[in-house]
Amino acid sequence: MAEFKEISPNASAGEKLMNWVDNRFPASKLYKEHMSEYYAPKNFNFWYIFGSLSLLVLVIQIVTGIFLVMNYKPDAALAFGSVEFIMRDVPWGWLIRYMHSTGASAFFVVVYLHMFRGLMYGSYRKPRELVWLFGCAIFLALMAEAFMGYLLPWGQMSYWGAQVIVNLFSAIPLIGPDLALLIRGDFVVGDATLNRFFSFHVIAVPLVLLGLVVAHIIALHEVGSNNPDGVEIKGPNAPKDANGHPLDGIPFHPYYSVHDIFGVGIFLMVFSAIIFFAPEFGGYFLEYNNFIPADPFQTPLHIAPVWYFTPFYSMLRAVTSEMMYALIACVVVGAALALLKGKLANIFKVVILGGAVVVVAAMLTIDAKFWGVVAMGGGVVVLFFLPWLDNSPVKSIRYRPDWHKYMYGLFVLNFLVLGYLGMLPPSAIGGRVSQAGTLFYFGFFLLMPWWSRLGEPKPVPDRVTFTAH
Ligand code: HEM
Repeated sequence: MAEFKEISPNASAGEKLMNWVDNRFPASKLYKEHMSEYYAPKNFNFWYIFGSLSLLVLVIQIVTGIFLVMNYKPDAALAFGSVEFIMRDVPWGWLIRYMHSTGASAFFVVVYLHMFRGLMYGSYRKPRELVWLFGCAIFLALMAEAFMGYLLPWGQMSYWGAQVIVNLFSAIPLIGPDLALLIRGDFVVGDATLNRFFSFHVIAVPLVLLGLVVAHIIALHEVGSNNPDGVEIKGPNAPKDANGHPLDGIPFHPYYSVHDIFGVGIFLMVFSAIIFFAPEFGGYFLEYNNFIPADPFQTPLHIAPVWYFTPFYSMLRAVTSEMMYALIACVVVGAALALLKGKLANIFKVVILGGAVVVVAAMLTIDAKFWGVVAMGGGVVVLFFLPWLDNSPVKSIRYRPDWHKYMYGLFVLNFLVLGYLGMLPPSAIGGRVSQAGTLFYFGFFLLMPWWSRLGEPKPVPDRVTFTAH
């Protein structure tokens, strides 16, 4: 137990109260560690705003969600009507609902930008691997949260989207059909599915999300933030003042709390403009087909997930039986290169050869639909490995060879194209482009151990670069 701190009898009532609390709960200690004495690099730029904005959107989603649940009915016969009731009859219900539906898309906008910042500045690299891994787990949880939430309004897209995605699980050999049944709780998406998705969406996944976000921030504050130069400000060789505080750091509060409030202001203006003037956002945030009640007997002509899932949906659709030949060729070439070029012990060579034979045999025997599911999941899973795929001698894109910037630019463009194609009905040309895009996406990551080492990096400064403004 920590020592009890006495306070002068002349102290103010507020100081006495704080002392009373601090002797029982580390309130001031936590405030200092995470706010007033958390030293963050002084050269943060625009990209560093999205962490705080993700936190803000998380709070918006939880608060609006609580109010939605007060009038929503998780029952296949009542769900659609209860959402209409919220929109038309509940005082301010339309606002709460639009905040929640726009919040879902806003969440993915800010999180995608937040992740891209990490990619650009090498924020996933030592010592921040766990910050990144918790982030990837958050991203997975967020996808599950959004997917299950989308079933709740019980519109045509809710229903058929869930039907398509849950059916994908049945492509898994042996356990697939039983797994799909377990998820649905019925042979088709129905009331049982709605009930379990509701329970996961309102309590199970948000709890996991909150826990992961806390772990994410604790891990970040343990090692300290990275910055656009990728220069460590807290390392043993980093310059410090007489009190041991980093010379290139400034306390989070008040400097970045004020800075972030400015970002929050801009964000809320855009967020409100969408809510008040374009809540459906041209069918991207709320799909038009979802204003029609779910009808198990009428499949919509075109089923597409919401925009934030479409890059991964494109990867799923890209894997046709024809594409399997290209994928098999990739496995064979990859294994051959590892055996011929890699300086590996014999035992590893045997493992690689055996592994390649097994994978190719599986690819030849198991249906392409299953490998599509593997590609879709793999597109997210590969992110977890990023800290160990990047071999560049420098962290930040600022000091990497110029062509690395084009590579990242191409990666973003490719991701956007995959996202766009995933919204369209399948077409011959679109199919070919998504196949090329899927190969590029995986090539970017899986070949990173090789290409990230190439080229001449620029000299990295000892201190962060900062010009007062
Ligand atoms: C609910 C979602 C999330 C919340 C609330 C959140 C929150 C935060 C906050 C507040 C910071 C510190 C401020 C900043 O550097 O921007 C941060 C940093 C970071 N986050 Fe997240 N985050 C989320 C999701 C993610 C995801 C999905 C990833 C990656 C897969 C990720 C990776 C990182 C990394 C690498 C850093 C350190 C950046 C640096 O120091 O340069 N985060 N996060």
